[in-house]
Amino acid sequence: MDPIAPRRHGPVSIRLVKPRDARVLQQELLSNRAWLRPWEATSPDGPVSFDMRLGIRRLLQQYRDGGGIPFVMEYDGEVTGQLNVWGVARGSLASATIGYWVSQRYAGRDITPTAVAMATDICFTELRLHRMEICIRPENLASLRIVEKLGFRYEGLRRRYIHIDGDWRDHYAFALVREEVPEGVLQRWVQGRAPQDAASIPPADRSHA
Ligand SMILES: CC(C)(COP(=O)(O)OP(=O)(O)OC[C@H]1O[C@@H](n2cnc3c(N)ncnc32)[C@H](O)[C@@H]1OP(=O)(O)O)[C@@H](O)C(=O)NCCC(=O)NCCS
Repeated sequence: MDPIAPRRHGPVSIRLVKPRDARVLQQELLSNRAWLRPWEATSPDGPVSFDMRLGIRRLLQQYRDGGGIPFVMEYDGEVTGQLNVWGVARGSLASATIGYWVSQRYAGRDITPTAVAMATDICFTELRLHRMEICIRPENLASLRIVEKLGFRYEGLRRRYIHIDGDWRDHYAFALVREEVPEGVLQRWVQGRAPQDAASIPPADRSHA
């Protein structure tokens, strides 16, 4: 994979994670336990010890193998969280999934939607991917705001889809394909042209979640 250059919009930027981000990320994860735990991926085989330095090394190896892009999100140059593009499928699918978190003290500043828009644009243009997906637990209202703001399209309810916070959890899936956003996701959003209701969840799926 060619090197991915950092992207910036106002105070928000994304760049590839570096091994030397391990200390600050580990510190943020530790001091945000209660904030992150309900939404954090867990292993169905039971608790695993986590070493951020090793985690970053693995993410960068996946990046070199073309399997994903591990970004950090920054606000005014300060690391605020992670945005991870994972599950890159090439060939006839040309798709990937986005996951993210920010520290609680940075919440509510449009950092994540801005970062998701920039990461999606990078994936469509530089990686030539066709489809980007975001999966969100029905209870995660803050995360649902991200897809609402950016006009990701609701695709459906996936039952017991990802192991989160100790169990298999239902998720809503949202996606965009490249031809839906010829002007780019960031431009479409900042110009107020993201469709307001693309992420709306049909009543049947809302009551089943
Ligand atoms: C979901 C998350 C990434 C959103 O990031 P963000 O950068 O705060 O995104 P936004 O600024 O667009 O805020 C989204 C919504 O969060 C809510 N919010 C704002 N400030 C908040 C705060 N201090 N505390 C809790 N929620 C807040 C608001 O509903 C906001 O929507 P609004 O802008 O229409 O008011 C962040 O809340 C987070 O990291 N949560 C924990 C981890 C997680 O849920 N990851 C996603 C798994 S799918």
